[in-house]
Amino acid sequence: MSFKKTKSYKSFLKSKYSCIKCINYFNIYDELFKKYRNQKIIFVEIGIFSGGSLFMWRDYFGKKARIIGIDLNPESKRFEKYGFEIFIGDQSSDKFWKNFFKKIGKVDIVLDDGGHTNYQQIITTNQCIPMIKDGGKMVVEDVHTSFIKYNWYNPSKYSFINYSKKIIEDINSRFPGLKSFQFSLKKYIYKIDFFESIVSFDINRKLCKKNSFIENNKKNIKPIEYRNFLNKRTILYKLKTFFKLKTNFTYPVFILNAFKLKKYFK
Ligand SMILES: C[S@@+](CC[C@H](N)C(=O)[O-])C[C@H]1O[C@@H](n2cnc3c(N)ncnc32)[C@H](O)[C@@H]1O
Repeated sequence: MSFKKTKSYKSFLKSKYSCIKCINYFNIYDELFKKYRNQKIIFVEIGIFSGGSLFMWRDYFGKKARIIGIDLNPESKRFEKYGFEIFIGDQSSDKFWKNFFKKIGKVDIVLDDGGHTNYQQIITTNQCIPMIKDGGKMVVEDVHTSFIKYNWYNPSKYSFINYSKKIIEDINSRFPGLKSFQFSLKKYIYKIDFFESIVSFDINRKLCKKNSFIENNKKNIKPIEYRNFLNKRTILYKLKTFFKLKTNFTYPVFILNAFKLKKYFK
């Protein structure tokens, strides 16, 4: 669908103050935020600038939503007279977030459109995720900064995208026997959506339980497990049959395949 047909773009056009968003974001906003429209939610956006997005979100989510804006610039307080809640502070300060959530409590959506540095994005994500309600989302935009050298000093081992990849490992460690992280968010994050320039984390503590196997206890026909069988056309199979070897060759097959897979990582 053309972004011009999205609800969020229509709200963007209606805003009476200036707002700059990337055109690809509108379809993503509609996809991520559709279910929260006309609901009694608490929506937080970091980054107010000229105030345009506050009005856009008010129009998009409807009157029942509480729209909270956060910015470093104290002049952003001017938007309070329109019914927005404005907090002045630094998104990379743990202390700011502690005070913020002490006052507001848990929220439904946090959208980070603030300073976009690795440090700001990572501290914000870490501080906000535990304070998002089940069914809510942490959305970080402009994550292409993770790949930009000028001004953002990326790519770096400690970029936001690399941190998101660590979270992929983190949530997979709910599977028994896998490495757990000391600094983990696995009890909050149910799902991650990766888009161009946007990463979104779905929060749902109830769906983040440790994984385990379950059997339905129905008739088991005991089939042969073909997983480790060698393809008859491979050299390994020919060697194995020629020398009448008993080894199952799992590891050499893994090495061979890893070599063949190399091109997909280029
Ligand atoms: C991209 S603009 C926000 C634009 C706005 N969301 C819109 O769509 O119209 C970024 C804003 O983030 C604010 N900002 C930058 N660093 C910040 C920080 N560390 N904490 C809070 N706000 C910050 C800037 O003051 C600026 O107003």
